Amino acid sequence: MSQRRILVTSALPYANSPLHLGHMLEEIQTDIWCRFQRHRGNQCYYVCADDAHGTAIMLKAEEAGITAEEHIAKIQTLHERDFADFHISVDNYYSTHSEENREFSNSIYQSLLANGHITQKRITQAFDQEKGIFLADRFIKGTCPRCKTLDQYGDNCEVCGATYAPNDLIDAVSALSGSTPVQKESDHFFFDLPQFEQFLREWLASGRLQTEISNKLSEWVEEGLQAWDISRDAPYFGFEIPDQPGKYFYVWLDAPIGYMASFKNLLSNQQGADKELDADAVFDEFWRDGSDTELYHFIGKDIINFHGLFWPAMLKSAGYRLPTGVFAHGFVTVNGTKMSKSRGTFINAHSWTKHLPTEPLRYYYAAKLGSGVDDIDLNLEDFVARVNSDLVGKLVNIASRCSGFVHKLNGGSLGPTIWNQELWEKARVVGDRVAEHYENREFSRAVREIMTVADMVNEYIAAKEPWKLAKSDETRTEAIAVCSDGINLFRLLMIYLRPILPEMAEKCVAFLNDDLDWHSEPKPLFNHEISVFTPLMNRIEPKQVELMQEENRSTAGAPAAAPEAQATSKDTASDIIEFSDFAKIDLRVAKILEANHVEGADKLLQLTLDIGDKTINVFSGIKSHYQPEDLKGRLTVVVANLQPRKMKFGVSEGMVLCAGEGEQLWLLEVDSDAVPGMPIA
Ligand code: MSP
Ligand code: ZN
Repeated sequence: MSQRRILVTSALPYANSPLHLGHMLEEIQTDIWCRFQRHRGNQCYYVCADDAHGTAIMLKAEEAGITAEEHIAKIQTLHERDFADFHISVDNYYSTHSEENREFSNSIYQSLLANGHITQKRITQAFDQEKGIFLADRFIKGTCPRCKTLDQYGDNCEVCGATYAPNDLIDAVSALSGSTPVQKESDHFFFDLPQFEQFLREWLASGRLQTEISNKLSEWVEEGLQAWDISRDAPYFGFEIPDQPGKYFYVWLDAPIGYMASFKNLLSNQQGADKELDADAVFDEFWRDGSDTELYHFIGKDIINFHGLFWPAMLKSAGYRLPTGVFAHGFVTVNGTKMSKSRGTFINAHSWTKHLPTEPLRYYYAAKLGSGVDDIDLNLEDFVARVNSDLVGKLVNIASRCSGFVHKLNGGSLGPTIWNQELWEKARVVGDRVAEHYENREFSRAVREIMTVADMVNEYIAAKEPWKLAKSDETRTEAIAVCSDGINLFRLLMIYLRPILPEMAEKCVAFLNDDLDWHSEPKPLFNHEISVFTPLMNRIEPKQVELMQEENRSTAGAPAAAPEAQATSKDTASDIIEFSDFAKIDLRVAKILEANHVEGADKLLQLTLDIGDKTINVFSGIKSHYQPEDLKGRLTVVVANLQPRKMKFGVSEGMVLCAGEGEQLWLLEVDSDAVPGMPIA
C-alpha cells in the first residue's frame, strides 16, 4: 500500500473564550482520524490555530483593559493546554493574527481582485456615535415588536421567537454604550459569489461533502447566491485591506486562510530543524491546483456555508486546490439538552480535566460518533456506566486477569502458539472492518466491532477459568495457553483502539514490550516477554462527575448575574466560599528539585518544583527561614494554577504554602511517600 499524504484541519476556535466540551468533540474526532492515518503508516499533518480577529475579540480585550494582542495570547495558551490535556495530536497550533496569514490573505485578496471577483458597494448600517463603531445585529438590543419583552438582541426574540430587522426593535439601543444608534453609510467590499454559481453546483455534486450537507447547500444555491461582504470599518481587530486605509478584512475572510498559514508556519519551523526540507516545495505539494495530496476540513454543522461555498470559491479564484473532503459533525448536547450554564451542563474543557480523566471522554465520543451530522448526547450517567463497563470491566480486565498467570506460571513469557485459533481468527478479521470504519469516520461502528471481540475474549476466559486450571500440575499448560491467548487478544484490541486511547496504548507499549504497530496486519506474539501489569485505567466515580458539574454551575453562572446582585451576595457572605471556589485552586504535591539563592533578592529563594506533569519555577519569600540545601528533595504543597507572575528575577509560576505568624514561618510538608503531582483536597 503506498503512503498517502494528508493534511487535516479542525475549525479554528475563536480566541474570545475557553474551550468547552462541544469544541472537544471536534478536536477528538479530528485527532482520532489523524492518529488512525498515522497508525496505518500514512503521512498525516494536523494543523489548527486560534481565530483571533473580529469585533467580539476586540471588545473582550477592551473590557479586560488589555490590548487585543495580549488577550489573544492569553487565550491561546489556554486553548493549547486543553488540546494537550485531551491528547489532541495537532502538529501546529497557530494564530490567524500572524505574518504568514497576513501575507496569504493579502495575496488571495489580490487574486480575487485581479480576477474581477471583488465588487464595491455603499451600504447603510447602524452606528454607535458614542463608541464610534458600526453595530452588527447582535450588538443592538431593544423591546421585541411582537411580545414586547425588553432587552432582546439583534434580529430575533429569545422569548417569542419572532424574527425581525434590528430596525423593528422598539427603543433600540447599542448594547455597547446604551446610546440610540443612527444610520450611517460606508463603502464595503464584496466577494462576488454569484459568479461562481456553475462552479459551486459542480463542487457540490463532486461527492466531497456529506450528502445532507451538499443537499442543504444546494438549496441555498437554488435560492440564489448573494455577494458576500468581506470588509469591516475601523475600529476592528484584523488585517487592514491593502490600499484601503480604515477598511479591514472581515474575520471570516482570513479565518480559513489561517489553515494555510498554520501549515506554512509548521513547515518553516520544521525547515529550521531540518535543512533538507524545502518548506515552499512541500507547501506547494499540498496546496497547488491539481495536487495528488489530500486535504480535509473537520467542522461543525453551523459553519458549512463558509467551508462548503465561500472557501472553495475563494480557493478556485485564487488558483489553489480544493479540499478532498469537508466533514461536518453535529453538536454536543449534555443530558439531552443544549449545553446550559445554569444547569451546569455548559462544560468547560479545563474543568473536566480537574475532576475527570480525558481518555474516557474520547472513548465515549468515539462510541457515539458516526459520519453524519447528528447531535451527540453526552449523558453523564451513561458516560460513567459505559466507560466503567467497557474500558475497565471488559478491556482492562482481560489484561489484569491474564498477566498475573503469565508471570506466575511461565516467567512472564507468552506461549509458543495461539491455543484458540478460531477466536484469534475472528479477532483478526475484525481488523479490516475496524480500519474501514475509522477511515469512513464511523467510529461508533469501529467501537462496536472491537467491543464484540472484547466480549468474546472475556467469555473465553470465564469459560476456561484459568484460575482453576492454574491449581493443578496437569492443567497448568492449559492455563498458560489461555492466558497467553488472552494477552495476545488484548494486544490486538489495543492496536485497534490506539487512535482513541493513545495514553493507555502508550502504557501498553511498556506493558507488552511491543510497539503496537498497525502498518500491516498484526501477527501474534510467541515466546515473548511481557512486563508486570500496572493499572491502565481507574473506574470513574459518580462523585467526580458531580464535582465537575458543580464547578461548571457556579463558575459559568456567576458572570450572568446582574452586577448589583453579585455585590449583595458578596456583602452578606464575604467569608464563606463555595466548595467549587475552593476546587478552582489546583493544589498539588510538589517536590523541591532545586533551591537557590537569588542574586540581589533579600527575601526570595528560587525553587524548581516537580509538580507531576511538569517542572515549574517559583520564587518564594522564605529566604530568612530556610537554607536552600535543606529544602532540596522535600515534598510540599503548591498552588499550580496561579497566573504566572513576572518578577524582577524571572517568572514565578506558582506558590508554595507556608504556615506563618509574625516573623515565624513553616513550609508545609507532605509525608515522604506521596508522589509529586498528587492532587490535594
Ligand atoms: N472561528 C470559527 C471557525 C473558523 S474556521 C476557519 C468558529 N469558532 S468556534 O469557536 O465558534 O467553533 C469552533 C468549532 O467548534 C466549530 O466547528 C463549531 O461548530 C464547533 N462547536 C462549537 N460548539 C459546539 C458544540 N456544542 N458541539 C459540537 N461542536 C461545536 O466557528
Ligand atoms: Zn418577542
